[in-house]
Amino acid sequence: MEGTGLLSPGLLALDPSRIQTPAFIIDKGALRANLAVLGEVQELSGASILLALKAFAPPSLAADIREVLPGIAASGPHEARMGRDEFAGIVHTYSPAYSPRHFSDVARDSDYVIFNSIAEYERHAPTVREAGRTIACGLRINPEHSEVTTSIYDPCAPGSRLGITREQLGSPLPDGITGLHFHTLCELGADALQRTLAAVEQRFGDLLPGLTWMNWGGGHHITKPDYDTELLVRLVKDWRRRHDIEVFLEPGEAIAIRTGILVTSVLDITKSGEDRNVILDISATAHMPDVLEMPYRPDIIGADIPDAKAHTYRLGGMSCLAGDVIGDYSFDTPLAIGQRLTFPDMSHYTMVKTTNFNGVHLPSIALYEPETDSLDCVREFGYETYRDRL
Ligand SMILES: Cc1ncc(COP(=O)(O)O)c(C=O)c1O
Repeated sequence: MEGTGLLSPGLLALDPSRIQTPAFIIDKGALRANLAVLGEVQELSGASILLALKAFAPPSLAADIREVLPGIAASGPHEARMGRDEFAGIVHTYSPAYSPRHFSDVARDSDYVIFNSIAEYERHAPTVREAGRTIACGLRINPEHSEVTTSIYDPCAPGSRLGITREQLGSPLPDGITGLHFHTLCELGADALQRTLAAVEQRFGDLLPGLTWMNWGGGHHITKPDYDTELLVRLVKDWRRRHDIEVFLEPGEAIAIRTGILVTSVLDITKSGEDRNVILDISATAHMPDVLEMPYRPDIIGADIPDAKAHTYRLGGMSCLAGDVIGDYSFDTPLAIGQRLTFPDMSHYTMVKTTNFNGVHLPSIALYEPETDSLDCVREFGYETYRDRL
């Protein structure tokens, strides 16, 4: 059945009719399982693993995450503040550029600040010095080694604005720089990291003796069943031994994969020629934008590709965008008004990206505790959320 491999046992057993839709449900048991894998990698390798808040930023789960991960990776002042206020651990912040208006907030809330160019570092270094606390400064490098095949996710694509190439960086590193950062992977294995590290060493190897830390970015699919954690552990240990350097990883997806579902209801079923359209109480563009951006076809529990089962429908969102279409799916039995449909694996890059486009309701957020079979709705959004952004 489509998508069941992406569901935790707890969410597989959960009766969707218990859920007021639309809603994201996060399984605390599945999150604990991912954290256990990451905790073991940290212990065996000596790396510190940070949660990239851009992927998954649940303040309601900060206490659970903090038990295992020592901190977070932020993309700017708001995420840095959430890291400081809610997660209360190490805060690494990297942004392609910092606005002078908000940089003092970044300096207040970050322990490590990573700059995308030497000029950016020089512009903000005085604020770092005046922050009255120790802030480690680093530079993002571009190792010019592509592992990602989808170009919008490839920071090493020709002409990329992300990171400094070796030619631009020169030598020695500017005074005050103690670390380097790269982020070049996306949903990839330890073999891709191994090749990337070889490229980093080849291009930037002469600068490594002057460093005390490195951040190897995200995109490590560590909690995926076939991920080679032994190789990752070996790579980190070997790097730490040879370069005497502290290593940070900042995955997002690996913390959240298979932990959540988006539950939606069928609002209407219409016919257009031979096609049967279903309107759901969610929107691809507002609630799961990666479906249109990447693009990709999300799984639905109990559904299959068109015509594989007896009843095929085109599933669309409730916004007026003509392209707000999730895809064509087939089902064993006809869909009915009010019926729940469950999209698995919807924790990462969903809640953090939702919008109220068209004034649509944001899905509420609930936590599921499999040990007690209890659901706890931690966020509901109404008109005020829509109004207050505008
Ligand atoms: C700089 C940086 N770090 C970490 C991440 C997290 O990546 P992932 O969720 O794929 O692990 C991203 C994702 O875009 C990123 O740009």
